[in-house]
Order: sequence, then structure tokens, then C-alpha cells
Amino acid sequence: MHVFTAKKEILYFLENERINKRKIGFVPTMGALHEGHLELIKYALRENDVCVCSIFINPTQFNNPDDLEKYPVTIEQDLQVLKEQGCQVVFTPAASELYPDPWRLNTTIHFGEIESILEGKYRPGHFRGVGLVVTKLFNIVKPHSTYFGQKDLQQFHLVKQLIRDFSFDIRLICVPTVRAQDGLALSSRNIRIPAEDRPYANKFYECLLECKKRLKKGDKPVGIKLFATTFLAQFPVIKLEYIELIDTENFTILKKMNNKKEAALCIAGYINNIRLIDNVFIN
Ligand code: PAJ
Repeated sequence: MHVFTAKKEILYFLENERINKRKIGFVPTMGALHEGHLELIKYALRENDVCVCSIFINPTQFNNPDDLEKYPVTIEQDLQVLKEQGCQVVFTPAASELYPDPWRLNTTIHFGEIESILEGKYRPGHFRGVGLVVTKLFNIVKPHSTYFGQKDLQQFHLVKQLIRDFSFDIRLICVPTVRAQDGLALSSRNIRIPAEDRPYANKFYECLLECKKRLKKGDKPVGIKLFATTFLAQFPVIKLEYIELIDTENFTILKKMNNKKEAALCIAGYINNIRLIDNVFIN
């Protein structure tokens, strides 16, 4: 497995791979790898000749400095599991490699409406940071295909918009959410959930499944919101931030269920002070 920290070196290496007509699949991550990330790696390995994984805790996408500081770092372990999976190339740049100037003074991409709803609303600036780093990484790796998780559905749509609007010639694949046995969506932040609260962490998913059933029976999104608020209020360690029905074609909020549209129900909230997000497709 080749591990690069310098932009120039990975650029040069991958240029050669492209000359040799090898297909490059790319999985961007922030490390603390779990089975969810590994599912993306497996997709990339299956569909390409070379799998590139980046591990970079991107400072510009953290709207909460405390979250950045507490973000888990398990680099040695991450490299070990990537090697075991058969990943051929890893890119682990230092912050100064991607942000040579102080990182608060960078070019900003405005994504429009998607920035002001759901995650965009509750994490101001987050998607501009994601968009900036993904653009940098796409320009360095120049992959044929890239793999993103359904778990971060709004991020997936942002990347779709980025690829379309900046004319990147990259195939984008959405990989289904990998869950723990009790249904909790795997996330690097899960290791911060206190053991005594962990039994309640799957309540967001349980709530989504019940809401999905009710939507299918004809309940309206307002009724669903009321149900979710009441259901989750039973558990004192849980705080609901939002639950919204989304048109997955263009990532806009749906006020009414429309069986002809591909929809998803997205939820976010806190267990203790750990923020979790999840979603399920409806149609
Ligand atoms: P990170 O949270 O490390 O996630 C990296 C990728 O793994 C994302 O595409 C995410 O959706 C996917 N993923 C996370 N948990 C998953 C699960 N349980 N099942 C399936 N896929 C899962 O998302 C980021 O990093 C960053 O914003 C990044 C895109 C790397 C830009 O900095």
C-alpha cells in the first residue's frame, strides 16, 4: 500500500496510473474508519483497478471548534485496516498541505438553497468547507469514480451539485448506510457516546422506521413531526433537532408525500452532547 502525504507525489503517482489506463476509484474520509467506510472501500475496489482513500480531518467544515478538537484520530489502526482490505493508495496530508495559507481565508463556494436547510441550517459554513476540500481532493486524485455514503445524504447531494456545476468528469456512487446490529448508523462519532446512553442511540433509526410506516399509510409530514417529537421526548438523553421529508432528486423539503417522487426522511439530533444524523428512503 502506498501512503502519500505530499500532494505532488500522489499527483505524479496517479498520473502514471492513468497513463497505464488504470481506473481510479476514490473514497474521501476523515479517518477513524469503521465498517461504513470500509463498505465504500469495497465498492471502490470492486469497480476499479486502483482504490485511493484520503484521510484528512478537514478544519474548514467544522462549525464547532470543540467537535474538531474531539474528532477521533486512529491513523495507525486506519492504515492497518486499509491494508487488510487491499486498498492500494492512501493520501494523508497535513492541514498545511491542503491549506497553505491560513485556512480561514480561503475561496468560498456558495451552494445556494441546500446550504440553508437541514444540516446546512444547523451547521453554518459546514457545506462550504466540505465543498472546498472535496474540490481540492478531486483535483489532486482526478478519479474516474467516487464513493459517498447514503448516511450523509445531503453531503451526497452537495457533491452531486459540485460535480455537475464544476464539470468534473467523475462518476458518483451512493453507498447504502451500514448499521450496527441494533440499527444505529455507524459513525466515527459513535465511540464518544457514553456506554450508559448507547442503548438509546438507535432510537433515531427506530423513529425513522415508524415514521416511514406512517407516511406509507398516508400520514402527512406535519403529523410525522409531531409523532417524532413525542416519541423521542420519552428518552431524556435524546434531543431532536429536525426531521424532514426530502425530495431526493433535488434535495428540497417536501410538505406533502408524493408517491411519484423519490423521497427520504432525514433526522438529526443529540444523544447527550453527541450529534447524530440518519435517514431512510421512502419510495
Ligand atoms: P467521514 O465522516 O469520515 O465519512 C466518509 C464517507 O463515509 C462519507 O461519504 C460518509 O457518508 C461515509 N459513511 C460514514 N458512515 C457511513 C455508514 N454508516 N455507512 C455508509 N457510509 C458511511 O464525510 C466525511 O468524512 C467528510 O465530510 C469528507 C467527505 C471526507 C470531506 O471532508
